Amino acid sequence: MLLLWLWVVKSASETTACIGGIIAGVQLAGCNTDCGRVEVRLEEGGEWYGVVAEPWTIREATMACRAVGFDEASSASAGMPGGPRRSVRVEMGPEWRVLEVVEAAGVSAACRSSGQGLASSSDDSVANEWKERRERRAAQLPRGVPPPSPFTSEALEAYVFADELRRLWERMDLAYREKSVFSNASVSALGVLDADDAAFELYLSENPHSDFLYETDRREVRAAAAAAADDDDPVAGGIFEALDRDGIAMIKDFGLTSAQLDVLEAQAREAVGASVNVSVASDGKVATARREVPGIEPVLKNVSIARALRRYLGADVLLDGYKVTHLRTSGPGDYIAALWHHDRVGRRIKMFVYVHDVDCDEGHPTLVAKGTHRLSYFRTDSFAASRFRDDYVTSTYPIHRACGPRGGGFIFDTHAVHKGTPEGRFDRLTLIAEFHAVHKCPAARALNLGIPCPSGDQFPLNHRL
Ligand SMILES: *[C@@H]1O[C@H](CO)[C@@H](O)[C@H](O)[C@H]1NC(C)=O
Ligand SMILES: *[C@@H]1O[C@H](CO)[C@@H](O)[C@H](O)[C@H]1NC(C)=O
Ligand SMILES: *[C@@H]1O[C@H](CO)[C@@H](O)[C@H](O)[C@H]1NC(C)=O
Repeated sequence: MLLLWLWVVKSASETTACIGGIIAGVQLAGCNTDCGRVEVRLEEGGEWYGVVAEPWTIREATMACRAVGFDEASSASAGMPGGPRRSVRVEMGPEWRVLEVVEAAGVSAACRSSGQGLASSSDDSVANEWKERRERRAAQLPRGVPPPSPFTSEALEAYVFADELRRLWERMDLAYREKSVFSNASVSALGVLDADDAAFELYLSENPHSDFLYETDRREVRAAAAAAADDDDPVAGGIFEALDRDGIAMIKDFGLTSAQLDVLEAQAREAVGASVNVSVASDGKVATARREVPGIEPVLKNVSIARALRRYLGADVLLDGYKVTHLRTSGPGDYIAALWHHDRVGRRIKMFVYVHDVDCDEGHPTLVAKGTHRLSYFRTDSFAASRFRDDYVTSTYPIHRACGPRGGGFIFDTHAVHKGTPEGRFDRLTLIAEFHAVHKCPAARALNLGIPCPSGDQFPLNHRL
C-alpha cells in the first residue's frame, strides 16, 4: 500500500501540491477550467489519477477547488465518464492523505471564485411562479396516444458515453410508456425542437433541470422580449436575427481601433501569464485568466450588442463577467472541450473577442451545430448526456466554423451543440464575456439545481445591461 501525504498549499494562488517532498499536481479534467474530474498526480510528469474520497460533499469539493485556485465549490458530484481507470483514495483535510491506489472512477467538482452567481436577490418567487404555471398547464394537455418512444438504443448511438446512459435511457423509456399525452413536436436523438407544453410533459418532465430551463427559456418570454426590442437599430437587429436563426452571430468588427486592440492584446497576454487567478487544464495547454482586462470595456459598453442580447435573453440581462482563454493544444488528447457538447445551462450567451486573427483551419476555430439552440435536450442534468458523437452531429446539422480577423469574433448561445478544435498550429488568445437572463443563475442556485451558471472561471462583473 502506498502511504503518502499530499500537502495542499493553502494559498489560492498555488496550483501544486507536495507529496512526500515531491512536487505533484492537482487538476480538473474533462469539463472546463472551472469544472471536471478531480485528478492528482503523485510526481511531476507522472500519470494522473482520479480521486476517491468519502464523504464527498461541497466541503471536500471546496478543498479541491482551493487547490486549483478557486474560492469554493458550486457542486460536488460523482465522477464524469472518460477519466483515468485508477484513482487514489484520499482522506481529505487541511492536508490530503493519500491512502491507496484503487481501480475505481473518481469524483468531480465545479468551482467558482467568490462573488459569482450572487448578483441579484436569490429568487424563490420565480420558482414558485413556475410551479403554479406547471400545475395549470398539466390540466390542459391534449390527451391521446403518444408517438413512438424516442428512447431507443439506436438513438443512444448519438451519445459518446452511451454505456453510462443505458440504464437511465431504459428508465426514461419505461416512464414514457406510461404517458397518455399527444404531441406532434419534432423529436431527434438529442431532444425536442421548439418544445411546447405537451412536448414538455411527454419528453422532458422526467428531467429535474428541464422544468427550470423550459420556464426560463420559454419562447413566450423570448417573444415578449422581441416585441419590446428597439427596431431602429439595424446592427442589433442583425445580431439578434443570426442568433435566433443559427444560435451564433459572427461579428466582423467590434469597433475597437488598432491602437485599442494592441492594448487589449497586451493586457490579455499579461493576464494569462500571471500566477494568481489563472486556471490551467490539459497539462497547461489551456489557460484561463479571471483577471481584470480594462481594454475590453468599450465592447462591453456597446449599445447595439446590449440591445441584441436583451432581445435574445429577455428584457433583463446580466453581464456576469469575462475571462481570457489561451489555447495552445495540438491534438484531441490535449483538449478538454474537444467533444461536441452543450453547456447544460440552457440559453446563455458567450461573446468571443479575437485579439489576433483566428485562422479557420489552424487557429482553433469554435464549431457550432447550427439550429441546435432550439432543442430542449432530454437530459441536461447528466454530464454524459451532454456529449455527442462527431458522426451524428456532422451528418445531422450544418456546421458553422467560427474564425476571422482580429477585432472581430462572435456571439453565441452555449445551449447550441458546439466544440473547440484541439488541432491547430497557431495559439488562440480570446476574451470571452458571459451573459444570462438576470434571474437565471440566482434562481438555479436558490433551487439547488447544481446548474453550472454562471461559469466559475471569470472575472466577475455582475453588471446589468
Ligand atoms: C401540431 O398540432 C398543432 C395543433 O394540435 C398544429 O397547430 C400544428 O400545426 C401541428 N404541427 C405539426 C408540425 O404538424
Ligand atoms: C458596436 O458593435 C458593432 C458590431 O457588433 C460595431 O459595428 C460598432 O461599431 C460598435 N459600436 C461602437 C460604438 O463601438
Ligand atoms: C482574483 O480574483 C478575486 C476573486 O474574483 C478578485 O477579487 C481579485 O481582484 C482577483 N485578483 C486579481 C489580481 O485579478
